[in-house]
Amino acid sequence: MSTVASITVTAEIQRFDPSQDAEPRFESFEVSGLANMSVLDVVRSIYENQAGDLAYQFACRVGRCGTCAVRVNGRPVLACQERCKAQMRIEPLKPFPALRDLVVDRTEIESRLASFELAPLRNNAHPGQPELIAPDLAAKLCHMDSCLLCMVCVSACPAVEERPFDGPAFMLKLRHMAEHPADRRDRLDQALQGGMLECFNCDVCTQVCPADLSPAQAIRDFRRELFFGRGKEA
Ligand code: SF4
Ligand code: SF4
Ligand code: FES
Repeated sequence: MSTVASITVTAEIQRFDPSQDAEPRFESFEVSGLANMSVLDVVRSIYENQAGDLAYQFACRVGRCGTCAVRVNGRPVLACQERCKAQMRIEPLKPFPALRDLVVDRTEIESRLASFELAPLRNNAHPGQPELIAPDLAAKLCHMDSCLLCMVCVSACPAVEERPFDGPAFMLKLRHMAEHPADRRDRLDQALQGGMLECFNCDVCTQVCPADLSPAQAIRDFRRELFFGRGKEA
């Protein structure tokens, strides 16, 4: 029977309480446990045993809800899915404002998503029964709909830092609607307004996505539509 090795983790965690701190600071903790602990296991242990005032978020612990996203050694990850390392610097997801410790303010994210009106805008009322859809397209739409809205891709995107660009997750959401056969809203125009052309096609967003999605491909599909057109039936 194989046994799992032990590890002692040194975790530097960004702390920030806006009611007390002028600037974020780092606090160092040591946690001993099994080497296959997740980053979330380490953070929970710190909360339970060393810093009961540490603010962090999680819900599902199985990589489905997207709420536990943080940056570990500069890389955005889902804390529940990322194996711990001996030395970790754990920070809230940039570029979003930190509410406290590892918790970011998602107000702007949610209002941007709401402004996109991500429900099909139909020419005709819904028939009130399931509509026929090609199996391949249904599978593609289901896959695109599996986005966790974790914002890991946005945090990793180099264009977001430098340019007026909403970021890859938002482009993926718009592309999901653009592919929907019933939707008549001009999603390409929304993507352009969101800075789509600022993407420089590096594919980093696809590499970091925990849901195996490709926001970069969604942007390439919008670009193809921009340059070569794409007919949705009227
Ligand atoms: S491909 Fe585009 S959207 Fe994705 S990380 Fe690179 S610049 Fe950002
Ligand atoms: S595309 Fe992937 S990384 Fe980006 S928000 Fe959705 S699930 Fe997260
Ligand atoms: S806790 Fe739900 S994705 Fe990590």
